[in-house]
Amino acid sequence: MQIEEYKSLKSYNTFGVAVKARYFISVNSVKALKKALKSKVHERIFILGGGSNMLLTSDIDALVIHINIEGREIIQRNDSSVLVKIGGGEIWHEFVLYAIENDFGGVENLSLIPGNVGTAPIQNIGAYGVELVDVFESCSAVHRETCDERIFTKDEMRFAYRDSIFKNELKDTYVITDVTFRLTTKNHKINTSYGDIQKVLLEKEITEPTLRAISEAVISIRRSKLPDPKVLGNSGSFFKNPIVDKKTFELFIEKFPQAPFYKVSDFDYKIPDGCLIEKARFKGKQWGDAGVHKNQALVLVNYGNATGKEILELAQHIQEKVWEFAQIKIEPEVNIF
Ligand code: EPU
Repeated sequence: MQIEEYKSLKSYNTFGVAVKARYFISVNSVKALKKALKSKVHERIFILGGGSNMLLTSDIDALVIHINIEGREIIQRNDSSVLVKIGGGEIWHEFVLYAIENDFGGVENLSLIPGNVGTAPIQNIGAYGVELVDVFESCSAVHRETCDERIFTKDEMRFAYRDSIFKNELKDTYVITDVTFRLTTKNHKINTSYGDIQKVLLEKEITEPTLRAISEAVISIRRSKLPDPKVLGNSGSFFKNPIVDKKTFELFIEKFPQAPFYKVSDFDYKIPDGCLIEKARFKGKQWGDAGVHKNQALVLVNYGNATGKEILELAQHIQEKVWEFAQIKIEPEVNIF
């Protein structure tokens, strides 16, 4: 077991924040994971996946276990679908490309989302009209203290908008080691309902899009709006889009009749944060090396050497200003440590 000390995590988090791990180990199997969990090197354990949904605000005084468990396996095939089991340490987008290569449908709208397969279910990643819940079959997980292995079915995961049991009752309790997806092998359910996809396909004069065409459309939309973490540190959407009651919504829309919104139910409305933050005049602004992206106000960026604390201060400032101007409370989507 190779444990490193005072390891820089700069290249292990997509914000590119330079904090150190007191102890660090990368594990490539369930056996190695269990060994690390039982090692007692430090009383605290910190699990690290792709580091794409976290803001690290100080050094991590713990044993950081980096999940690097690979593997792609077709475990069942029937007439119209396939079950594929993917290692928790696999890079999400590489899994999407594998699915497209094999003409397996269901994850094409989720192209180019940063992060790993094993952490994707925790926040039920979603984009362009599709969420992970739509293709999730089950996942395997190891209990952090007992090291018992358990399978979680879709129902047990309690998926919701950017939410699952692993963000609530079972927060910090299990480590996901692989995820099984049910993907279609024919009669793919092509989802082009999200405005921009149709626009891109129209521009390319594609009327019967393949999985690859959808994936490419999503990639071009994401590239045009969202910064590449390899070039500019960021963590995707920093905040969740707030869901507000009818009264708050009506007050808001009276002030901004042109603003976009989604009706969630007869009582609830989702308002895009990007729009709120833009209207609060933060879009494209920079304080030191911390800033708000110029093309998508929901994304906070690290222009180089911002500390996690500086990015957090900016996030708090935005929350206060959005509250002052729209009386809407916005909550971070990323995990803050
Ligand atoms: N908007 C603005 N100003 C901005 C950004 C957006 O006015 O600076 C408006 C847009 O014009 C549009 C609306 O807000 O009318 C929605 O924007 P967009 O389609 O870019 O989606 P979003 O609500 O900002 C969500 C997800 C993204 C996902 C996209 C596409 C959340 C928190 N974010 O963003 O997910 O890629 O939809 O499905 O739900 C992520 O989670 O990291 C992420 C990038």
